[in-house]
Order: sequence, then C-alpha cells, then structure tokens
Amino acid sequence: MIDFDEIIDRNTPEDIKYERIEGIDDLIPMWVADMDFRCPLEVRQSLTEVAQRGVFGYSEADESYDKALTGWYKRRYGWDVDPRTVIKLPGVVLGISDSIMALTKENDSILIFEPLYGPIGRAVTGSGRNLVVSDLVMKGSRYEIDLDDFEKKVRENNVKMLIFCNPHNPAGRVWTRDELLKVGDICLRNHMVIVCDEIHADFVYSGHKHIPFASLSEELKKITVTCTSATKSFNIAGIQAANIVIADDSMRRAVDKYAFTTGAFGLNIMGLVATRAAYTYGDRWMDELISYLEGNTELVKSRLKGTKLKVTDIEGTYLMWIDASAMGLEDPSGFFIDKAHIKFSEGKFFSKKAGQFIRMNVACPRSVVNEALDRMLAVPGIR
Ligand SMILES: Cc1ncc(COP(=O)(O)O)c(C=O)c1O
Repeated sequence: MIDFDEIIDRNTPEDIKYERIEGIDDLIPMWVADMDFRCPLEVRQSLTEVAQRGVFGYSEADESYDKALTGWYKRRYGWDVDPRTVIKLPGVVLGISDSIMALTKENDSILIFEPLYGPIGRAVTGSGRNLVVSDLVMKGSRYEIDLDDFEKKVRENNVKMLIFCNPHNPAGRVWTRDELLKVGDICLRNHMVIVCDEIHADFVYSGHKHIPFASLSEELKKITVTCTSATKSFNIAGIQAANIVIADDSMRRAVDKYAFTTGAFGLNIMGLVATRAAYTYGDRWMDELISYLEGNTELVKSRLKGTKLKVTDIEGTYLMWIDASAMGLEDPSGFFIDKAHIKFSEGKFFSKKAGQFIRMNVACPRSVVNEALDRMLAVPGIR
C-alpha cells in the first residue's frame, strides 16, 4: 500500500502552492492543481539516476519512451496510438496555443465551454483569435453541455476550432460516449478542428470511464489534437512535459513546424525519464491514488451536506467545484482565507460568471481534508 496519509513538508521558497500569505501561519493551500503526494518511487529513481550522472545534455525520446507511452494509453483507456503521431512539448497549454497558431488564422473564432481552466481562454484571446463561449448548464448538481447553444454559436460565429476538456476542470465531468459523439458530430458537420485537453484523463472515479476523443471514430481521429501529459497524474508538473497526439499528417506537420519556430519543443531529460518511468511502472500507484482521492471527495460531499456550500458532482479530477452563492459573500475565496485560513481557487479564474464559486483541491492527505472541513464548518453563516 502506498502511504498517501504522509504529510510532506513543501515549505520551500520555490513552491507556488505553499506561497506564504502575510499574517497567516497555518494556511491550508487547496488551490493550484498539484498534489501533496510524493510521486512513485521509480519516477524518483529515474530522476536521481540522471541527477547523479551530472550531465544534462540535449535529449530525445527513443523506442522505450514510445513503448511506455502507448502502453499506458492502451492499458488505461484502450486507445491505440501510433507513436509517430506524437509531438513532445514542454506543456499542455503550449500544445493548445501551438495548435491555435498552426491550425487557425487571426480573427478566426474558437469556442470553449465555461467554466474552464482559465489559461485556455487566454491562449485564444492572446493569440488574436475570437473567443466564443458556450456556458455549461447545471442540471441538479451536474454540468451538461447545451448542444443547441453550442451549435448555434458555432454557426453564428463560423467557429473553426473547439477546445474541449475531458475530464473537465473545474466541472468535474467525465464526458460520456454519447455526449462526446454529439459534440463530435457538430464539429464534423461544421468542419471544425477539436483540440482536446485530456491532462486529467487518469483521474476518473467509479462508474465512469475516460474515452479519448480521438478514439471515438476514424473521422474524429482525423480532426482531433489530443493533449496529454503524465505531469498531472504523477504529480510532476514542475517537470513540464506533454505529449500531443495528432493523427492527421498535415495538421501534425503544421503544429510541429510552428512549435519548432518558437524554440519550445521536445522534452528535457528530466521530463523524458520521469514520464517514461511513470508510464512504465505507475499502474498500481495510480490505482491506489484514485481510490484514496475518491475517499477524499466522498468525505467533502458528506461533511458539507446540509450546509450552504453546494458541491458539484465529481466524476473525475481531484478538483471540487463548490457554489457558495447561498452564503451571500462578495468574495468567497477571500472570505475563506480570512475566516478559515484555507486558500481555494477563485471561481472567476474559470468564468466571469463564476465569482460565487470556489474550487477545492482535495489531492492531499485525508487528515488535511478533515482539518479544512472542520474549519469550513466553523465559519459564520455556513448553515
Ligand atoms: C485542464 C488543464 N489543462 C492544462 C493544465 C496545465 O498543463 P501544463 O502545465 O502542462 O501546461 C492544467 C493545470 O492545472 C489543467 O487543469
């Protein structure tokens, strides 16, 4: 059994998550999406080996890397990928922005479903494209895609690209085959490209299954750019490594060419060996992690039941999306820093309309989740 209960001291000046807030000594950071767990032993060993050799020359993935990567895709999601269709880059957001630059033109319209991880929308506007938003709709305590609104906006704005996120951060949805096919059908009929951010693919809870968009059909495979990475799954985000799968030759060549011109392409040696070790040896670690995280999500749901904090259903990711509007606060995340010394992500990072939401990262030891819940349940106005 892996010990996910261990408290690891992350109190270093470089650590973003644990950045100090003046006047608070006992802050619980539950915001940025990395975990408070040590990555698998084999990943640490692979990094130590390179560090001890002490030579950090340029590096390139070989067959052993390809085998680890495609083996993981196949075992975990039943997805067959030809390693020749994979572009290696230093990050998923970079893969998204390179795809925007290479596959669309200035002023083209690109659609996203909000709320959504903020840097994606910013990659669109920052590259001089027209951002079109279709809001997800809450049905009960679960988000759904408004397909009519989606298609209407696609037509009205002549949308060229959809940037999709599955599992969805922060909505917590693991989109079903039926939903994916309906979205894909609209994209096919309107001659769009799909850029699918699947960085959270390994965080999927009981009763749900991650289906890579590109695995749905030959037609969809041809129009899809899939952005994947081991960094979120194995808590090695600081290592910066991503794998971008593009089956269509001309699309892949265009993205590859663009990436080359930016100078940010390929994997650094640490990203390479860590990804390879994670995908080769990480299955059992990942299985145990998922069941631990699922326990944490259950705990949050049950302890916040009956309070004014409305927890959105979570099918995947370790990021819980919580509606605090019933508390009538001007700034919910500021309130919890102040009153409970807990830092959540602010809802407005994910949508202008989500100012009343907070996002709670539960990828930490259960004792920390319990301590955070004790503090939340003690704040004024929670019931
Ligand atoms: C949906 C999503 N995409 C991308 C990223 C960032 O990926 P990268 O650091 O590889 O650019 C995150 C990080 O939280 C994320 O949640």
